[in-house]
Amino acid sequence: MKQEVMEIIQQNQLAPRIFELTLKGELVQEMKRPGQFIHIRVPRADLLLRRPISLNKIDPSTNTCRIIYRVEGDGTKLFSTLTTGDTLDVMGPLGNGFDLTGLKAGDCAFIVGGGIGIPPLYELSHQLKAKGVKVKHFLGFASADVMYYEEKFQQLGETKIATDDGSAGVQGNVGNLLLAEENKKPDAVFACGANGMLKAVEHFFHDHPNVQLSLESRMACGIGACYACVCHKAEDETKSVKVCDEGPIFKAGEVIL
Ligand code: FAD
Ligand code: FES
Repeated sequence: MKQEVMEIIQQNQLAPRIFELTLKGELVQEMKRPGQFIHIRVPRADLLLRRPISLNKIDPSTNTCRIIYRVEGDGTKLFSTLTTGDTLDVMGPLGNGFDLTGLKAGDCAFIVGGGIGIPPLYELSHQLKAKGVKVKHFLGFASADVMYYEEKFQQLGETKIATDDGSAGVQGNVGNLLLAEENKKPDAVFACGANGMLKAVEHFFHDHPNVQLSLESRMACGIGACYACVCHKAEDETKSVKVCDEGPIFKAGEVIL
């Protein structure tokens, strides 16, 4: 983990409140695993805590990385006002990232995401495809107007969409897409999204040996020092794990969602 003042190369708005931001710096050389995140200082003195945002794309050849974020509060609102040439103080990469080692060319992986849990799955899908793994995406959004990246995912593999209001794809959530899926035995399942969606994935693939879930938890330090982000182990509720440095990726069944 390192810290660097990175330069903003580009910022685009993808949908209402959803922004795509490209950063440049040497720190990119440290970024390897999909599912890792960066911890970004908000350039406003009274906002002391950094904001954790997942890596959406890593490009070591140009020293650039990309994030996608949704404006929620003051921190992300300020990020959305920044433009090319501005800088951000970035710490990272943080977290364990998804583990792709058990997969080989010809295997099939399901990639399941909802809302603002979708961004890190793009780098994941890229890296899986580069290994020759067949990827299948199951993506859920609130409605068609807040959808993003569906074409980019389609370029990597089959992509099924669900929206809460039925304005695109199947009406309902990603659970409906999984229920309708004919292939019930992928070689691995990767998921990132709200807790309810992660629980559904855990339930759906309850006896599967390789299901990896990316948890979202409120964070402060981001480096394992403050215990702001703990969740409890499934095998023994009195034991806790820190999502920031022992996660954010956990095996299904490992922690209580
Ligand atoms: P505020 O609500 O004003 O934030 C106040 C405080 O609460 C800050 O310290 C903030 O960090 C924390 N906080 C608020 N919401 C969350 C949340 N959902 N999770 C964690 N901390 C929160 N969002 C994206 O849009 N894109 C991503 O790729 C993304 N990746 C994430 C990866 C990880 C590992 C985690 C833990 C969270 C991720 N989030 C992502 C959520 C993002 O960190 C919050 O939306 C953001 O911190 C909100 O900051 P704010 O100042 O706009 O909102
Ligand atoms: Fe401080 Fe995880 S955020 S220990």
